[in-house]
Amino acid sequence: MDQIVIRGGRPLKGRIPISGAKNAALTLLPCALLTDEPLTLRNLPRLADIDTFGHLLNNHGLSTTIEGTHPEEFGRVMTVRANRITSTVAPYDIVRKMRASILVLGPLLARAGEATVSLPGGCAIGNRPIDLHLKALEALGAEIELAAGYVKASAKSGLPGGRYVFPLVSVGATENAVMAAVLARGPSILENVAREPEIVDLCNCLVAMGARIEGIGTETLTIEGVRDLHGATYAVMPDRIEAGSYACAAAITGGEVELLGVGEAVLGSTLASLREAGVEITPTRDGLMVKRTGTLHGVNISTAPYPGFPTDMQAQFMAMLTVADGASLLTETIFENRFMHVPELARMGADVTVRGRSAVVRGVAGLNGAQVMATDLRASMSLVLAGLAAEGETTVSRIYHLDRGYERLEEKLSAVGADIERISDG
Ligand code: UD1
Repeated sequence: MDQIVIRGGRPLKGRIPISGAKNAALTLLPCALLTDEPLTLRNLPRLADIDTFGHLLNNHGLSTTIEGTHPEEFGRVMTVRANRITSTVAPYDIVRKMRASILVLGPLLARAGEATVSLPGGCAIGNRPIDLHLKALEALGAEIELAAGYVKASAKSGLPGGRYVFPLVSVGATENAVMAAVLARGPSILENVAREPEIVDLCNCLVAMGARIEGIGTETLTIEGVRDLHGATYAVMPDRIEAGSYACAAAITGGEVELLGVGEAVLGSTLASLREAGVEITPTRDGLMVKRTGTLHGVNISTAPYPGFPTDMQAQFMAMLTVADGASLLTETIFENRFMHVPELARMGADVTVRGRSAVVRGVAGLNGAQVMATDLRASMSLVLAGLAAEGETTVSRIYHLDRGYERLEEKLSAVGADIERISDG
């Protein structure tokens, strides 16, 4: 398995282009199931998860065509067409590789009247049930059965539509419900929905395909089902988590990096917490300049659904705060097991104590390089960040996690002066 080797201690300086958002792309791709016309997505990141989603769509009978963007360029254009759905089954072999496969459930049900999707099972950052996906679809009129590790959803004469109040905010369940409701026979009201920018991106794409959705970006979505949707061309929003991660890279190394293609609004509360920690951020013509000249200060953070602090930035922030002046309290309210980077950061000299859902980080003068490995995507990035600031050499293994979510990470970081390379073990 490949490894990443980093020789730390160099302040990063330069420009980093921000790719299209992985989590937006993973909910925009299944929208292609909702129409027999082509859906063209621009600015799709080149990531393992996107390829896996493409295979899943091929498995349902969709054609996927990638336009020949130059290999040196970031992102690509993919046209997906579902003029015929040949299978409504999402098999275990694909779903177990990528939890987001569950996002074909709503659109398959809406378009084909049935869907059989493997249960995703547990994952490293917690239990991650899908009960809310199922309850929301039931409220829209689906019949749901669970058997032999699969969810079978059906609505033989189409979904009637309905009302559902989410008991807790779920990004994925909101996405599935929205994609199902847009083709329902009647109106639907979804309350206490997730308001993440990726949900806004999904709704905007569906509207471009002819869907009727009101309340986009608020807690309540009112959806008037339409008989058919049509094709569209849509550009995926920039990845706010990738941007936030590179902002932490600039900050932890005391560097100066311009993040290209993102504005202040996209980063939301991540930006406010970076500023509170002493990071200077200024809008530029092409994006945002992120710079740290003074010391970093400890900050307290509690993850929460948007517009709160994103759980997907918690590990990277923790890495940054290990070298801040003073203590920080990080509370994880979304996933129950999302501190797995802590023992690895400790191997690099970080001082972190975990008590239940909170972690106290006491800033240290510096980190030292070590051999580390991570169990999930964002935890892996936190180790890369620590490695960029550490004295000596850090080897990060299991980097397939990084390939799932960071487009050409080592290329982007070397271009701003990091000493980072991928070692293939053949
Ligand atoms: C999405 C993101 C992930 C991010 C997370 C929270 C994608 C592909 N992934 O994941 O990167 O960390 O949002 O911002 O977009 N829950 C239930 N029952 C359900 C569904 C969720 O109890 O049916 C719980 C989860 O266990 C978790 C919380 O709700 O504790 C939020 O999860 P959710 O927003 O659904 O996360 P995902 O959509 O899986």
